[in-house]
Amino acid sequence: MCGIVGYVGFRSVSDLLVEGLHRLEYRGYDSAGIAILHEGKMSVRKKAGRVLELAGILQSQPILGHAGIGHTRWATHGAATDQNSHPHLGGNGEVAIVHNGVIENYDTLRKQLTALGYVFHSQTDTEVAAHLLAHNLEEQIILGGSASDIETCLKVVELTLEKLKGTYGLGIMFRDCPDTVIAARCGSPLVIGVGKDEYFLASDASPLVGYTKEVVYLSDHEVAVLQPTGLRIDHRKTGSVFPNVHVLEQVSADIELGDYEHYMLKEIFEQPQTVENAIRGRLDSEEATSVMGGLNLTAKDLRRIDRIVLTACGTSWHAGLVGEFLLEEFARVPTEVEYASELRYRNPPMTDRTLVFAITQSGETADTLAALRECKRKGHPTLAICNTVGSTIAREADGGIYLHAGPEIGVASTKAFTSQVTVLTLLALYLGRMRHMSYPAGRRIIGQLRDMPDKISKTLQCHDKVLEVADKYFRFNNFLYLGRLYNFPVALEGALKLKEISYIHAEGYPAAEMKHGPIALVDEQTPSVFVIPRGGIYPKVVSNMEEIKARRGPVIAIACEGDTDIARVADDVIYVPDVEEYLQPLVCAIPLQLLAYHVALLRGCNVDRPRNLAKSVTVE
Ligand code: M6R
Repeated sequence: MCGIVGYVGFRSVSDLLVEGLHRLEYRGYDSAGIAILHEGKMSVRKKAGRVLELAGILQSQPILGHAGIGHTRWATHGAATDQNSHPHLGGNGEVAIVHNGVIENYDTLRKQLTALGYVFHSQTDTEVAAHLLAHNLEEQIILGGSASDIETCLKVVELTLEKLKGTYGLGIMFRDCPDTVIAARCGSPLVIGVGKDEYFLASDASPLVGYTKEVVYLSDHEVAVLQPTGLRIDHRKTGSVFPNVHVLEQVSADIELGDYEHYMLKEIFEQPQTVENAIRGRLDSEEATSVMGGLNLTAKDLRRIDRIVLTACGTSWHAGLVGEFLLEEFARVPTEVEYASELRYRNPPMTDRTLVFAITQSGETADTLAALRECKRKGHPTLAICNTVGSTIAREADGGIYLHAGPEIGVASTKAFTSQVTVLTLLALYLGRMRHMSYPAGRRIIGQLRDMPDKISKTLQCHDKVLEVADKYFRFNNFLYLGRLYNFPVALEGALKLKEISYIHAEGYPAAEMKHGPIALVDEQTPSVFVIPRGGIYPKVVSNMEEIKARRGPVIAIACEGDTDIARVADDVIYVPDVEEYLQPLVCAIPLQLLAYHVALLRGCNVDRPRNLAKSVTVE
């Protein structure tokens, strides 16, 4: 939610900030703006709408300079208007700030600052921080400080942060303190790119790609000063911090669209490769198990575990539900998947034998992070299944498993889901083989996993058929998604995909559960998408399908190739390769991702930037 960029150095900063904002636009696209400090003058350009609009304004009204901050917004307080766009100026323009997060006590602060004579130009929570900085600066100057002195500016920042309640990633510039960007973090991610005589600031590493591979991740309660001459970091409680420089693995091509029209489509088609990446180096045929180096727990530690809690949001929660079924089937460890937004405030009974996994693509989801911290605070071993290397959750967990799926840019999560399910399968195999799973069973699973990239490539051949189905159904306004056992989470995921990018009402249900209520929705205008590959209870799901047909509901089936019988019941069938039941989510999710994509396109929706959403939900 909201993307921040900043730069100090020798480059012309305007284009660089705009390019960075383009790369962060997946975090929010309600408005965009930049502030540039040049020869004692603070210039701001900002506009409601996409970064492209801002770029247009900068063409007609360019700003020169080598130090600046920028922001792309996902609105929390105040509508998506020019006035509410960041950067915000404090006082009479002595300070400019960009902010990602939520200042919870903004109303109180706003009243206090208004009483002091500060005039607010926006409805945002952020503007209070801007005015508070200006106010504290004024006070420090009265006490003998200097607006051009970095120590005074840091004191002002500290006094301001002391008053703020909530979460923030801040980029700050003081008008009279040249060539300086100050960053502060509490709950919202910030990364600093280290160059030669230049420093970059961003909400994640993507704007740094192509400029530097050396990064420093800012931790909560740290304040950084970026100047061309150097980087200084202080922890607000413990003092000076030695910058721990990491080398960025991401390569530029990862974030290019290539020949695809949208990131979502590109990412759907990357899945044979991303599933391969998730498996690579992690299968041990000799021992008939998987290799889980990053868990940082010994076999003895893991053998003690008698309960697993998986916590996540959205699509990652759906992957977690598949994980629950896998872990219980393969490892026989009682497992629950908890919504992170609930777990963070719930207090379920958990013993010292409970292992907690946070599942997250971004590694920055506020609720997932809070749930992880709460479990950690209680002393549970906390692990992460995460895609984004160096993200907050990846760093704060005691260990974990990376997806290696490459950056996922499309707001609708696709390849992260299949990678998460793959990694959870590896985990279930690992824990299973520590318990009662036999050597031949382990070998069989390894063989089946090795085949998955090919099976997913074959699945993608359904693309033309999906297009045909999308064309037939895109005008319908209500959909049911139904599946059982391993395909129930797939039904939930299919419904979420359709909702979030095409704004069609869709509900996912266990197929047999629909007769306990949702069947009342069924009529000629409510298609049901059945995820019905072959398996133990296939005939039962066919009966559920018949129940829908009996009520004249149109039926689309996702079925196994060769299943000609299903075509006699369903109106339309999309075939996927036949795989073991526990692997069906990996193939069945794909036609549902494609269906959502094409329906959204046919309805004229912005597939990669759906309304009201952002890729990383870094606010509560
Ligand atoms: O980055 P995370 O995996 O933690 O994100 C969790 C959800 O916000 C995310 O999966 C969201 O539901 C997606 N938009 C779904 O496509």
